Amino acid sequence: MNDRFYITTPIYYVNAEPHLGHAYSTVVADVQNRFHRLIGHETFFLTGTDEHGDKIVQAAQKMGLSPKEYTDIISDKFRKTWPLLNIHPDRFIRTTDPQHIKTVQMVLQKVYDQGDIEFREYEGLYCFGCERFLIERELEDGKCPDHKVEPTRLKEKNYFFLMSKYQQWLIDHIKANPEFIGPERYRNEVLSFLKDPLDDLCISRPVSRLTWGVPLPFDENFVTYVWFDALINYLSGLDFPDGENFMKFWPVANHVIAKDILKPHGIYWPIMLHAIGLEPYQALHVHGYWKIKEEKMSKSLGNIVRPGWLVENFGADATRYCLMREMSFGLDASFSYDSFVTRINADLANDLGNLFSRSVTMLHKFRKGVVPVERRLDGPQDELRKEFTALVTRWKELMEKFQAHNGMAELWRVLNLANKVIDQMAPWQLAKEEEKALLLDDVMYCLMEGLRLTAVLIWPVMPKSSEKMLESLGLSPDKELTPQGLSWGRLEGGEEVKKIPPLFPRIGPSKKEAKQAQKPKNAQKEKEKEKKMEKQAENEGKFINIDDFSRVELRVAEIVSAEKHPNADRLLKLTVKAPEERIIVSGIADHFSPDSLVGKKVVIVSNLKPVKLRGVTSQGMLLVAKDKAGLHLLEVSPDTESGAPIS
Ligand code: MSP
Repeated sequence: MNDRFYITTPIYYVNAEPHLGHAYSTVVADVQNRFHRLIGHETFFLTGTDEHGDKIVQAAQKMGLSPKEYTDIISDKFRKTWPLLNIHPDRFIRTTDPQHIKTVQMVLQKVYDQGDIEFREYEGLYCFGCERFLIERELEDGKCPDHKVEPTRLKEKNYFFLMSKYQQWLIDHIKANPEFIGPERYRNEVLSFLKDPLDDLCISRPVSRLTWGVPLPFDENFVTYVWFDALINYLSGLDFPDGENFMKFWPVANHVIAKDILKPHGIYWPIMLHAIGLEPYQALHVHGYWKIKEEKMSKSLGNIVRPGWLVENFGADATRYCLMREMSFGLDASFSYDSFVTRINADLANDLGNLFSRSVTMLHKFRKGVVPVERRLDGPQDELRKEFTALVTRWKELMEKFQAHNGMAELWRVLNLANKVIDQMAPWQLAKEEEKALLLDDVMYCLMEGLRLTAVLIWPVMPKSSEKMLESLGLSPDKELTPQGLSWGRLEGGEEVKKIPPLFPRIGPSKKEAKQAQKPKNAQKEKEKEKKMEKQAENEGKFINIDDFSRVELRVAEIVSAEKHPNADRLLKLTVKAPEERIIVSGIADHFSPDSLVGKKVVIVSNLKPVKLRGVTSQGMLLVAKDKAGLHLLEVSPDTESGAPIS
């Protein structure tokens, strides 16, 4: 059983294109996948896209495309991004795949038949960003901590998955299996969540409001919503229930996620699995957020970095290395161009790149480019031998625990030692003394064998550079990138080593900075002036971009009741259906009587930040036209559905 490994990433929403945050999770999964292959395991690596739900429909509408057309385009962008980073999953799953849909329906029917699903009315605080109801305790200043918006109060009849009856089972399972959720802080977070009684999970949406989902097999008026659909990808990706992959890999399922989706993965998912009658996954590995200047990188905050841009600037291997090294798994990290450049120049160009080219050059100078036999003599090079041998065990332990950042740090400690051994032993001096020939052999052997081992140890993180190093050493990657390749002493002596161009060229200042630096000073001043003028024009200008407009969400709303605001004469308090019920406070009391408004289908701005107006929270804005005669409602034909988006 332990000679297999199944690794997954979250399936990413297609309402945004891939960014560095997605790239990190996928690189982590790829590194783990490669590590397990390297130590001889049979592995399966799954990633993909999550394509159902409101957010996707809205994003498609904004682009004037059908959901299917839209999801095909964005899903393809994810699929094509991963090879740029040398990531090659075994399967790329889409929640719109017919086989996935069939699996979700089969699971739903089973859980329904055994009485774990109930139909009832629910009112709660719904975050459209998270696509789930939040509980008060999760809010920060009344807002969703991830999307920084106040959730909307929603009341709807829906199907609920009765999670609470499995709560104690989950607590016991987590306590009995310390490795089930890690790092430990996230395990504790889940356990602390489980101290309060669990709410049941709303798993449906009425078809009247949303058709872009998997139809419930037991009620055609509803589709299943978000988590029940998405989480099951981890099973359908293995061809559950009968597939060979399912039998082979489900017992060793390892999920990588960021902390944003800890609750669905740490609570809903194991309970769903238990209800289906399956063993829960083996382990959940949770990482922190990539931030830019203290803000989480996300499409909604508009501060994203594209993986393609990273690869263009730094190359695939260096990008992977920086991602792995700059974030301690589990904690947040900040991205900056400069920190990546510093990391690449120091660790890759200087420490590793230099050590490699220095050693190969010396081997050519003092031993005609041929690896000498190992002499096993005392001296600083013997320390190096011992350090490298001990390193492999430590590195393995760290990699197994998803601590590649520490695994790399340990390796770099030994690489620095190797650089010191060269300075200490000064091979160019040894080469001048006949009686030191065997010592020089041993020094050169230890350097070359250390570099061979290094090439194997960096393979999970930097596969291309690893293979280049091995080829330069005259070795076959197929033979070295194996469990046997991880032991000291594989070079036999006699291998012919080729000189190759620098593995990691130094990166100079960014192109932008370099251009600026070349310009004469007054040209820079001119530029600043120009910028200032542009800014002024922008502030004063009355034009907006199409992007600005597309951020405004307009919807049809039916006014179901209207009354005077209790604390303000000029305001009316309207209850509208759009299609969920919400309150809108509007300054139209001087123009309309409350009764004249009821039953009208009007236009509202539906994504305005809720505001309190004289003690009543208003969730949106009613649109009216104004002329000399006064105000006129913007009405739409009465057969338009409440909530229909206006594009
Ligand atoms: N579709 C759901 C996941 C369903 S899994 C059954 C979803 N999609 S998402 O597109 O929002 O992806 C969230 C995941 O993307 C995070 O859990 C993480 O893996 C990655 N990240 C997105 N932004 C990130 C950061 N700023 N930092 C680190 N990881 C980030 O949630």
